[in-house]
Amino acid sequence: MGVRAGLIGAGTMGRRHLQALSQDHRVELVGVADAVAEAATTAAASVGAQPCRDLAALAALGIDAVFVTLPNVYHGAVVLEALTRGLHVFSEKPMATTLEEGRQIRDQVRRAGRVYQIGFNRRWAPAYRFLRQHVDAGFTPFSAHVKINDGDMLTPSWYTNVAISGGFMYDTAVHLFDMIAWLIGPIESVAALGRQSCYPDYDDVALLLRCAGDRPVAFSTCGHATWAPPQERVELYGDHALLISEDMDHARYTTRENPRAGWQQFSSPDMVSLWGYVDEDRAFIDACLGVAPPPVTVDDAFHSLAVLDAAYASIAAGGLPTRVRTE
Ligand SMILES: NC(=O)c1ccc[n+]([C@@H]2O[C@H](COP(=O)([O-])OP(=O)(O)OC[C@H]3O[C@@H](n4cnc5c(N)ncnc54)[C@H](O)[C@@H]3O)[C@@H](O)[C@H]2O)c1
Repeated sequence: MGVRAGLIGAGTMGRRHLQALSQDHRVELVGVADAVAEAATTAAASVGAQPCRDLAALAALGIDAVFVTLPNVYHGAVVLEALTRGLHVFSEKPMATTLEEGRQIRDQVRRAGRVYQIGFNRRWAPAYRFLRQHVDAGFTPFSAHVKINDGDMLTPSWYTNVAISGGFMYDTAVHLFDMIAWLIGPIESVAALGRQSCYPDYDDVALLLRCAGDRPVAFSTCGHATWAPPQERVELYGDHALLISEDMDHARYTTRENPRAGWQQFSSPDMVSLWGYVDEDRAFIDACLGVAPPPVTVDDAFHSLAVLDAAYASIAAGGLPTRVRTE
């Protein structure tokens, strides 16, 4: 038995998920919804699905699961509606743009017993899997230095509209907040300084994070850095050992004995595989079919939202260390 899936939000990310899902023979793509009829029609035609206007029309097609790939501010309400309709939900990040909506989703997932998975695709990207394999094998990161940048904030068009995005960090930094928690441990407090430089949003932010076990992390993020690689870089400091990743496709592990150990370059057949989308969607379908629990839990999603909330509260308070409220 397979999964009858629908998708709402036929933009860049929606089309990437359709491409990834097309590679999974267990999935029947039944409908694609978008507020813009032409977007729904074109994307639906590319996978042999029915074009729709909204979630109600998708649900009427008799789907089991829905992919929510809408602009950030719409995630909360549509995910809640989908859970209420008894659907399994894959939601792109961020979980929501307010902590209150995130709490409602968490409560509803616990009540409804449906699968909920958030789009932290980097957990499946080869460079980050390399870091995680070393951590699982005994490398203990005591501290870290992390950055993630955007070349500009011009695409999609709503990116610089805080009322829709929630803020620059809701879109981009959130990925690495999850990575830090996944590789080092939950983030317990945040101190952040922000500046509005090129856009009407905090597009230059420097943060000091404290993870469980008193592990400090220095983090910076910029929204106008040019597209010169690496866009993102993680350095994990262990006991006379250093793990580094750059972007999704290369990483290295050096030790006191072997400080010049070379970069490992990971190859993938295409961008949707390299960025982890194919495997993350496969994991979601596994969870819908009861093969395995969702690997990114609703608590992981809520944790990242609570870090965002604390980071913006700290910026508003001039950099005051702020507790991450995961309750
Ligand atoms: N995980 C990742 O790597 C990654 C990368 C890019 C974007 N994203 C996330 O994916 C989501 C979508 O981003 P995008 O770049 O595809 O945006 P986009 O603007 O390209 O696409 C959004 C689509 O949603 C449609 N839409 C807007 N409001 C709607 C509504 N109320 N009902 C139905 N359709 C509506 C728009 O017409 C558009 O086709 C965002 O949450 C973003 O943060 C994730």
